[in-house]
Amino acid sequence: MEPIRIGVIGVASRGAYFVREFHENVEGAEVVAGMDVVDAHLDRFRDTVGHDAFVTKDYRELVARADVDAVVVASPDNFHEEQGLAVLEAGKHLLLEKPMAITIEGCDKLLAAHKRAGVVFGLGLSMRYMPMFEVMKDIIDSGQIGDVKAYWCNHFVGKGGHFYFHDWHAVRDNTAGLLLQKGTHDIDIMHYLVGKFATKVSAFGSLDYYGGDKPDDLHCPDCPEKDTCPEVQLGHPPHFSLCAFRREVDVEDNHVVIMELEDGIKAAYQECHFTPDYHRDHIVIGTKGRVYNSEDYSTVTVRMRKRHALSDTVHQVHPPEGEHGGGDVLLCRDFIDAIREKRPLRNDPYSARMAVAVGVAAHESLRAGGKMIPVERPAI
Ligand SMILES: NC(=O)c1ccc[n+]([C@@H]2O[C@H](COP(=O)([O-])OP(=O)(O)OC[C@H]3O[C@@H](n4cnc5c(N)ncnc54)[C@H](O)[C@@H]3O)[C@@H](O)[C@H]2O)c1
Repeated sequence: MEPIRIGVIGVASRGAYFVREFHENVEGAEVVAGMDVVDAHLDRFRDTVGHDAFVTKDYRELVARADVDAVVVASPDNFHEEQGLAVLEAGKHLLLEKPMAITIEGCDKLLAAHKRAGVVFGLGLSMRYMPMFEVMKDIIDSGQIGDVKAYWCNHFVGKGGHFYFHDWHAVRDNTAGLLLQKGTHDIDIMHYLVGKFATKVSAFGSLDYYGGDKPDDLHCPDCPEKDTCPEVQLGHPPHFSLCAFRREVDVEDNHVVIMELEDGIKAAYQECHFTPDYHRDHIVIGTKGRVYNSEDYSTVTVRMRKRHALSDTVHQVHPPEGEHGGGDVLLCRDFIDAIREKRPLRNDPYSARMAVAVGVAAHESLRAGGKMIPVERPAI
């Protein structure tokens, strides 16, 4: 069988992960082309996949190549719309990193282009492939906990400083905000597990820890406070070691969102970027019981309501090795299978658009003091 030939746009951290995964661990895939704006990243890309691979600094050249069947877009968020549209318009299969785009209009253009192109279009929402959430979804779908009425998600982003405040992520123009950039994963899981989308949102949030009055061009290795700063980032490339307390930081780092989902499900999502630990709790409450996960113990627990007692069933989950509880590698394999089988992926663009719509509405709400914002479905 001929391999599916893959081009990757944006080949550093997340892109480099996809390059390695498709090159080494996914049968039936061949990485043939890479695009980036930084020479050193392209050099590393070729070191991984071989020096015959095509490289370019112009994504249009990669998209136009006849020997590229499918494209992974792993560039910063504000490029997803333009580059994703180019891939779809060229009739190539697309694996687009989350968030789908940083505006609802951008997502809707991608949905329309996908409808015209009829190719496989999946998102980097790899948590849908995490075995832990599959167990939770099966339990909810079986009716065991009754009719779902409430959903609470706590997202402890203990690596907030490390991943989000030393580079482009911390600036609204690049991401719209971190509820969209980071929260899109968990908001998507909330929609996915109960099979309902949010209809209205209200949020509070602010920049409570990061940001400040340090110069925008201050890098950790050059900082006079590097020996005492709790957020110092040494040993990383310059684009990833900007001061987390610099002036240009304008995204929030502490958020509380309340939502109503279809069928009146009451939901809450909390995301804080300066917690000591890094994990997420998903708690789903039905009329007969509740189900919740523990990332620390890799378990899913069902607690049922009884007349005078509680009874627990604990499911031990055994995920494969790898990022996102084993979800990432499963996503890569499913992308190739979906292309061969001409079927959609589990992490579909319509749902990804709805997660973006919630993030956009939540940012609008919190920047307007908590105003309630309706979440509309796309016209398509
Ligand atoms: N699904 C997930 O769990 C997950 C995890 C991490 C990152 N991501 C997503 O992956 C994307 C990249 O994040 P990252 O952490 O790898 O960022 P990064 O900054 O480490 O890497 C981005 C790469 O894109 C390149 N780049 C910059 N401008 C570009 C342009 N105009 N066109 C093409 N490439 C360009 C950079 O040189 C760099 O190589 C983001 O959208 C992020 O949300 C998703």
